Amino acid sequence: MNMLELIEKKRDGMALSQEEIAFFVDGVTRKTIPDYQISAFLMAVLWRGMTDEETKELTLSMAGSGEICDLSGIPGTKVDKHSTGGVGDKVTPILLPVVSSFGVPCVKLSGRGLGFTGGTIDKFESIQGFNTTVEPSQFREKIEKCGMLLGGQTEGLAPCDKYLYALRDVTGTVPSIPLIASSIMSKKIAGGSDAIVLDITCGSGAFMKDTESAGELARQMLAIGKLAGKPVSCVLSSMEQPLGSAVGNILEIQEVMETLSGHGREDVVTVVLTMASEMLKHTPYGKDLDSETLKERCAEKLKNGEALEKFRELLLSQGGMLDSSGNPVYVDEPFEVMTVCAHKDGYVKRCDALAVGEASCLLGAGRMEKTDMIDMGAGIKLFKKVGDPVKRGDHLYSLFTGTKNTVDDARIDEALLKMESAYEFSSEPVKPLQEILGVIS
Ligand code: URA
Repeated sequence: MNMLELIEKKRDGMALSQEEIAFFVDGVTRKTIPDYQISAFLMAVLWRGMTDEETKELTLSMAGSGEICDLSGIPGTKVDKHSTGGVGDKVTPILLPVVSSFGVPCVKLSGRGLGFTGGTIDKFESIQGFNTTVEPSQFREKIEKCGMLLGGQTEGLAPCDKYLYALRDVTGTVPSIPLIASSIMSKKIAGGSDAIVLDITCGSGAFMKDTESAGELARQMLAIGKLAGKPVSCVLSSMEQPLGSAVGNILEIQEVMETLSGHGREDVVTVVLTMASEMLKHTPYGKDLDSETLKERCAEKLKNGEALEKFRELLLSQGGMLDSSGNPVYVDEPFEVMTVCAHKDGYVKRCDALAVGEASCLLGAGRMEKTDMIDMGAGIKLFKKVGDPVKRGDHLYSLFTGTKNTVDDARIDEALLKMESAYEFSSEPVKPLQEILGVIS
C-alpha cells in the first residue's frame, strides 16, 4: 500500500477500505507521510466526500491513534458536549455548572480559537491562574472535588486529529462534513464519556452555512455515535448573528457571570437550557422527564444562584482567582476604544456573525496564525441584535482592546469597517432570529 494510490483512489471518487484508512491514520500519527501528500488527500476528501463506512473507520482509527480515557472509575453517567464553533459562543462555561449542579459528572475537553471562532480554553485562560492542562490521571480527583473539569486536548488524545486539524486549517480543508464529523467524534470517543451532546452551529459565523449541511453533519455524527455505542444528541443552533452580546475572551466571561447570576440574554439562555436538557436526558435523573420540565429545572439553577456557585467551584478547583465578591480576577481589563451609535431610526435586519468575529479578531481577541498572542481584553459588545428597534443616537456596539493594547489605528479602522458591514437596518419591523433550529437524537 502506498499513499499515492490512496490519494488517486480518493481523487477518482472511490471508497477506501478499512485497511487503507488505518494505513493513512497510522502514517499521519507516526509522521511517515509527508504533509504535501496528507494535504492532497484531505483536499480529495473535501471534494469527493466519504461514505458513512469510511467516515466511521476514519473516526475510530483517529480515536485509537492515542490513549482512550477510561472514566469508568468515576461513578455516574458522564456526559460530554461539543460545539462546532461560533462567534460569542459562551455556552460551555454556563452549561457545565448547570448540569453539574444536578450531580452529573462533566468532563469537558475543549479547544482554542482559531480564525474568527472563539475557543473555550482561551476564554477560561482570561481568568488569572486558571489552569487548563488537566492530565487524564487527574480527572478523578477533579471530579471528586467539584463534579466537573475543563481541560484542553492533551498531547496523547487523538494525536492524529490534532495533526490533521492543524494542516486542514492552513490548506482550506476544514469545511468538509466527513472531516469535521470524524475530527469531533474521534476526540469525544477518546474522551471516554458515556454520552455526547453536540451543538451544531449553522449560519454565517459557523462552518455549516445552511440547515441542509448542518443536518447532514448531525446525521453523520449520530451514525458514528451509534456504531461506537455512544448515545448522541444534536442541537442545531443558529449562528447567523453572534450568540449573546459579548464577543472576546474577558468580555464573554463577564457575560457568563451575568447569565449565571440570572440576568442572561434570552438567546444565550435558550441555547444553554436546550443543551442542558439534552445532556440530562442521557442521565438517570432526566431520562423520564420531558424537555420542558428539564429546561424549567435548569432555569431555576440560573435563578437561584446554584449554577453560579458551581462555576466558582470549578474556577477554584483549577487554580482560578476570585475577588472578595466572588468574581473572577482577569488577566487584564477590556478598554473601551469607541462606541458607535445609530444614525437613524429603524430595526436591525442583520448582525452578521462572521463579520463581527473577524472584527473582534482584528482588535486582537482571536488568532490569525496559530502562534499569535491573544489580547484577552479585546472584543466587541453588541447592544442591538436582529429584530431590535433602534432610535437615532442609540448605542449599537462598542469596540474594546486590552489595557496593554498594541493594535495600531489602521487595524481599529479595519475592525470598524467590518462592523459597519455586519449591520443592516430596515424601516419595517423585523422578526427576531430563532436560536434553536432543531434537536435530533
Ligand atoms: N471542531 C473540531 O474539533 N474539528 C473540526 O473539524 C471542526 C470543529
